[in-house]
Amino acid sequence: MSKPRVFITRRILENGMKLIQDFCEADIWPEELPPSRQAILDHVHGMDGLLCLLTDQIDSDIMDAAGARLKVISSYSVGIDNVDVAAASAHGIAVGNTPGVLTDATADLAFALLLAAGRRVLEGERLVKSGGWKTWGPSFMLGADLAGTKLGIVGFGRIGRAVARRAVGFGMHIIFSDPSRSAPEPGVNATQVDFDTLLREADFVSLHTPLTTETRGLINAGTLGRMKVTAVLVNTSRGPVVDQRALYEALVSKCIFAAALDVTVPEPLPVEDPLLTLDNCLIVPHIASASWRTRAQMSLMAAENLIAGLKGERLPNCANPEVYGM
Ligand code: DGY
Repeated sequence: MSKPRVFITRRILENGMKLIQDFCEADIWPEELPPSRQAILDHVHGMDGLLCLLTDQIDSDIMDAAGARLKVISSYSVGIDNVDVAAASAHGIAVGNTPGVLTDATADLAFALLLAAGRRVLEGERLVKSGGWKTWGPSFMLGADLAGTKLGIVGFGRIGRAVARRAVGFGMHIIFSDPSRSAPEPGVNATQVDFDTLLREADFVSLHTPLTTETRGLINAGTLGRMKVTAVLVNTSRGPVVDQRALYEALVSKCIFAAALDVTVPEPLPVEDPLLTLDNCLIVPHIASASWRTRAQMSLMAAENLIAGLKGERLPNCANPEVYGM
């Protein structure tokens, strides 16, 4: 019997690749940069499965171009705002993602950004390397305290709660807002507040929401204006949750103290983007899940989702379980 055929939009780590290549005939996009939309449309034709990355926009036209054989779309990510999940369900296609395994890595990076932005680590390093450091001084490079201050977590899912656990160790008080939750998990000492209270009271605001119509532009001129002038904003969720023009204005006018972003619009951020001119804005290239173990686990999960879908089995991690009721 011939093997199922799949299009893989980038080579993933070898543990997942091996599973896929043992079970499937895989067309693997060979380049470092993502395939263009046209390339996806061309390559997906006649495929039984598609493994995509968060850099690939997978919409209804791509599902139509694949044709009736396409059973599964496996995304090598936990966030699946790049896949039109409703369209996949309408096509009877299961969508897989990789929740859980990147929780700690993402929370670690959120905390690294929080510390680095609050304590001006990169600004200090630039100063040292450029020869601009003149002497130790009583009011030289002052930054934000962590112990005894308030961390406001927007979105108290797996990653938000993992950030909260880390903050406890730093002696922070934790408040969170999340319309989909009515209580924190046992063992995490956090107080639920409404979003406005969080903005008003938090010394650090860390974003952990999925990108939805409700969260797009959640941090904008209005919400930034309600934050403390000493506040530090951290975004490891999705770029469009923050209105970057408003953030630039807020950072320039010292409406907030600093920001640290792992995610931006677009990605990569062009070198001429005004945010890159600011000392109080730290930006890293969407690396929250980029640890060895995490990426290997994501690779395995994405491969297992893909193969389960090809076998007609329920995906171990399915983002549209409604597809099974159809
Ligand atoms: C995801 O998987 O959604 C993350 O953004 C990857 O870093």
